[in-house]
Amino acid sequence: MNYNCSIDEKNSISSLIINLDKQLGDRLFFDSEANIDFIISEGQLGLITQTMRSQGQNPIIYDIASQLEHHKYKNYALSKEPLYKAIGIKKGSNLQVIDATFGQGKDAMLLIHFGGKVTSFERNPYLAALILSDLSRIKNPKLEQSFRFVFGDPRQLCPQGDVLYYDPMYGNFANQKAKPRKEIQVFREVVGDDIDHQEFLLWAKQKYPRVVVKRPLRSRPLMDGVSHSFKGKTTRYDVYLKGHTLPGFP
Ligand SMILES: C[S@@+](CC[C@H](N)C(=O)[O-])C[C@H]1O[C@@H](n2cnc3c(N)ncnc32)[C@H](O)[C@@H]1O
Repeated sequence: MNYNCSIDEKNSISSLIINLDKQLGDRLFFDSEANIDFIISEGQLGLITQTMRSQGQNPIIYDIASQLEHHKYKNYALSKEPLYKAIGIKKGSNLQVIDATFGQGKDAMLLIHFGGKVTSFERNPYLAALILSDLSRIKNPKLEQSFRFVFGDPRQLCPQGDVLYYDPMYGNFANQKAKPRKEIQVFREVVGDDIDHQEFLLWAKQKYPRVVVKRPLRSRPLMDGVSHSFKGKTTRYDVYLKGHTLPGFP
């Protein structure tokens, strides 16, 4: 695929879905190939797959503002937070963070809580529709100030930023003995693997002074050239700095 930094027309598909007349009843849109149903649940756009229905699960509904609020009540010791250290946020620095992989938005909300100005991207149209639907009803001053969401791939827009954060769906369960949580299984069913991670990281390393990649603790780095890593209990954040070369390599 060619990325020429122009806005993706598919943006309009998401707004189309969320603007559909609610009078259509509970089923708004059905993708028979992917077995994905968009429904209105509690006045909001929800997504349910056939597997979820057969397991009696509730639809996926986003609540981005509560995720952000939730961090207010946690007492983070920033000097011990691996994501905070990896991103390189300094107090009052207003660091511009490009979050290339919004997914469920957990990391994006943590980055905002830590003080970043975050522009998030999500290219999966099903998730983007849920995200846009949720954002359209939120009134949260902190989010309005510190968060922007774009449906698409950052390679299409080439946004300015101090650091790019990348958490692809790739090999995240390779070394896991236990079955992943239901929530994650569903996510995998809807999104699948991000098989273009190598290409993406190559692009990001050329464009941004600092790139942070989230990996499962014991997995291999996505690419050589990690300048340093910050470890949590189950995850590791690999930092790639522009111009950084390994000792002994040109
Ligand atoms: C593992 S999830 C990210 C989870 C996220 N960090 C969180 O805290 O919820 C990966 C997500 O990024 C999206 N994605 C992967 N590569 C992307 C790209 N190049 N541009 C935009 N979205 C991407 C996938 O569709 C998927 O929803």
